[in-house]
Amino acid sequence: MCGIVGYLGNKNISSVLLVGLERLSYRGYDSSGIAILSKNELSVWKQQGKIHRLSELLKPLSIQGNVGIGHTRWATHGVPNEANAHPHLDNEEKIAVVHNGIIENFLELKKDLQREGHVFRSETDSEVIAHLIERHFEGSLEKAVEKAVKNLKGAYAIAAISENDPGKIVVCRKGSPLVIGLGKGENYISSDINAIVSHTKNIMYLEDNEFAVITKNEVVVKNDSGEVLEKEIHHITWDAEASEKQGYPHYMLKEIQEQPAIVRNIISKHCTDDSIIQFPDLRMKDRELKNSSRFIIQACGTSWHAGLIAKYLIEKYARTPTEVDISSEFRYRSLLPEQGQIVVALSQSGETADTLACIREAKSKFFKVLSFVNVLGSSIDRESDGVIYTHSGPEIGVASTKNYVAQLLNIFLFALYLGKLKGHVSQSEIDDLVKEMRLLPDQIQSLLDQEEHIMAIAERHHQSREFIFIGRGVNFPTSLEGALKLKEISYIHATGYPAGELKHGPIALIDEKLPVVCVAPKTATYDKMFANIQEVKARKGQTIVIATEGDDDIVDYADDIIPIPACLEELSPILTVIPLQMLSYNIATLLGCDVDQPRNLAKSVTVE
Ligand code: M6R
Repeated sequence: MCGIVGYLGNKNISSVLLVGLERLSYRGYDSSGIAILSKNELSVWKQQGKIHRLSELLKPLSIQGNVGIGHTRWATHGVPNEANAHPHLDNEEKIAVVHNGIIENFLELKKDLQREGHVFRSETDSEVIAHLIERHFEGSLEKAVEKAVKNLKGAYAIAAISENDPGKIVVCRKGSPLVIGLGKGENYISSDINAIVSHTKNIMYLEDNEFAVITKNEVVVKNDSGEVLEKEIHHITWDAEASEKQGYPHYMLKEIQEQPAIVRNIISKHCTDDSIIQFPDLRMKDRELKNSSRFIIQACGTSWHAGLIAKYLIEKYARTPTEVDISSEFRYRSLLPEQGQIVVALSQSGETADTLACIREAKSKFFKVLSFVNVLGSSIDRESDGVIYTHSGPEIGVASTKNYVAQLLNIFLFALYLGKLKGHVSQSEIDDLVKEMRLLPDQIQSLLDQEEHIMAIAERHHQSREFIFIGRGVNFPTSLEGALKLKEISYIHATGYPAGELKHGPIALIDEKLPVVCVAPKTATYDKMFANIQEVKARKGQTIVIATEGDDDIVDYADDIIPIPACLEELSPILTVIPLQMLSYNIATLLGCDVDQPRNLAKSVTVE
């Protein structure tokens, strides 16, 4: 969590840093701050709360300077207040440091430093870094940083500046991302490309245990043995516009609305006009996939829900046993390596610490790792053997929407690709399935067009303090996803259940006030789902039913009905989730919640 940005150059420095922080604020937004070197003098401004509060603080000031760093925080150690906001300073207030990650041994380091006379001003783990750099400083900031990080245990991306060694930013990383943006007579650093892509498209990725000394005109990267490294420069092809709101009141709404175009784009990337499925970027050999004996999927949050659906699809089309774990639990299993097992990671950001840790664990046990990732160049992308890019474009809203749909579609295509490789699905079957798939963009658009209807349902229910979501089969994970969307952006308690489990306990919750969202398209589990909805109605629950268009039978048991177009069962989760995203969005906005930056959350969860 947390976002880091830095700039060296002649542009308006506070504006470059503030715009960068605003773009990184999905990584955390409980406090922020900047430190600037002007005429070799260090100044720091910090503010509790969202970035606009820091902007207001800086507005009346005319800040000069050509070296600066900034930080937006997601609190781990210490409450979100001004003292705990970064940048942190050393004793003498000559060195400023921003940090993303967690320093696990900070307490013992802090005690040592306090014994040496260092005075701490915050409760954070990060402040020890500034004092450690001070302890080792003998005129060269890079040397002091190199020595300081040798004391650290944990994960970090660090940027440091000093008025005693001005004109440079020193950065290093271990376990938390950091990119360097290259310009002419100016350079940038950031936790991700998003914050600096409007300034430069030439990017260098810093790897673990690498250090860089960055001036206006030069970037020197070294490994931890001090060897200078030749780093590849990556050219980014997307524009800053892709990560802007473009007139929408919220990123989440924009991202929901983008879904038909994203689905169209994925189909054209992975499917020829003759319905041949292809994954040109996959770094894994067909032979390896063909010989796969089991998939072990691990992911968090919404990506985990996509993983649960992947199990149905891979087992159906590729007839390969598939297990699904939440990443933070996966690590406590006794993995039994066996020929042909592949660990699959799903991640929008490609930086989720729990998911990344599982990849490292799996690789240490000689498993091959295949990842579905949205962010190119992210840690998960770079550390996986094989990769399928989900191609949903920058997703900024904390609640994942378009990338979930992109994950589901890529999983569907992958399951067919694998099924064909293994000889379980013929090309003529794929032709028929692809025909159904090509209907999706228009079908999603028809759901988006139900905006007013879904808003009316939201108006009826937004005062409820609790919701239940139920689904079966391939749409059981949809119920989990619907509940997660609602709770994370509206703070209404919501739980998703496999509908068959209601009678084993949760049915006791149902009364005339409880909204029960029932995901009940015409699929193999429809009859059973129908019976469950009747059970809810018999106990006077308020049913909001997602049903296939023309399903007249269900109308009598639905207080509200949201029709979805008839579709293939395996594709139905792509459609059923759309009204659930819209329902949550509308409820949250009616309640006046900040849907893009819900309390306590961050988009990219880079702590374990
Ligand atoms: O970037 P990832 O897909 O690895 O993120 C996983 C979860 O943190 C993420 O899906 C989270 O649950 C979202 N807030 C859900 O909307």
